[in-house]
Amino acid sequence: MGRYLVTGGAGYVGSHTVLALLDRGDEVVVLDDFSKGHREAVPSRVRLVDGRCEDPKALAEAFGGERFDAVLHFAALSLVGDSMRMPLRYMAENLATLSAVADAAVAHGCRKFVMSSTAALFGFPERIPIDEEQRLGPVSPYGESKLMCERALDWAERIHGLRFASLRYFNAAGADPEGRAGEDHEPESHLIPLAIDAALGMRPPLTVFGTDYDTPDGTGVRDYVHVTDLADAHLRALPLLEERSVRFNLGNGTGYSVRQVIEAVERVGGRKVPHVLGPRREGDPATLVASSAKLRAETGWSPRFPGLDEIVKTAWDWRVKHPKGYAGAQRAA
Ligand SMILES: NC(=O)c1ccc[n+]([C@@H]2O[C@H](COP(=O)([O-])OP(=O)(O)OC[C@H]3O[C@@H](n4cnc5c(N)ncnc54)[C@H](O)[C@@H]3O)[C@@H](O)[C@H]2O)c1
Repeated sequence: MGRYLVTGGAGYVGSHTVLALLDRGDEVVVLDDFSKGHREAVPSRVRLVDGRCEDPKALAEAFGGERFDAVLHFAALSLVGDSMRMPLRYMAENLATLSAVADAAVAHGCRKFVMSSTAALFGFPERIPIDEEQRLGPVSPYGESKLMCERALDWAERIHGLRFASLRYFNAAGADPEGRAGEDHEPESHLIPLAIDAALGMRPPLTVFGTDYDTPDGTGVRDYVHVTDLADAHLRALPLLEERSVRFNLGNGTGYSVRQVIEAVERVGGRKVPHVLGPRREGDPATLVASSAKLRAETGWSPRFPGLDEIVKTAWDWRVKHPKGYAGAQRAA
């Protein structure tokens, strides 16, 4: 049994990873300021510290008296569009948050760290699928901030011996297959929940940004990886930190277009997805698909939920049961 500190553990990917840790018998402490996350997403047996990662008091409370085997750092500002309006805030805050948490880990004798990184490191990729050898070239302050975080960890490793895993997620999607957690962002910017809500009449028609890309049907192609599979990759990366630091691209390896996602939601939900066609958004590449070959080879990871319909089904089922998201929910035991 291990003991882990999870920052941002009340958020979407963090809460699913907390469940994966609890399921295998680990002890977890969550540090979250609830700026985006939900208390109700974290089971009540988890000690919750309500505070910001940059706040020394909150960090002291989180680390107080505990010896963690590793820190899993999910907390970040993560909206690409917002980062184009507030570049300096994104760069400063994401680096400050990571640095404060990594510093506290070192000060408390914990030398293993897992960071949520992103496909946005690659900007407009040169080749598909995107492997770890590709040129890094973020085209948003959000992507740039995560690159700065990876570089900061390189220095922390050299100077403090902090081993780290940087997991570059592609598009996290779906919900816990047992229905214990799901995606509840406000504002929501992700395609699958927006398409589901449009089908359920809970949001306006979906806008399809760009229909003239160089892709089979003209709409953007992305790699959707089930959030439970993402969580599993964190657990599998941890033992490697006994020996070395790692960087892994983390996706399904299959691309699906916006139109294919709409069709999947219509198949799974049995309802039409009202949508309108719009222009491309600046900074959106035509296709982003990961090569997870390195992750698979080095950790034995493979997705349990690789199919688009099964990913969409878990998201659909959660949303239908939680039309208001976590509002009004109770913390599970
Ligand atoms: N969701 C995706 O598809 C995706 C893709 C690539 C990378 N990522 C990265 O994965 C991580 C998690 O993403 P998510 O979708 O779960 O986001 P999220 O917003 O649902 O979760 C982030 C959590 O961190 C908390 N938080 C934010 N800033 C904080 C701070 N300074 N101090 C304390 N708590 C803070 C929020 O309240 C929230 O609970 C982020 O670092 C994001 O950049 C996500």
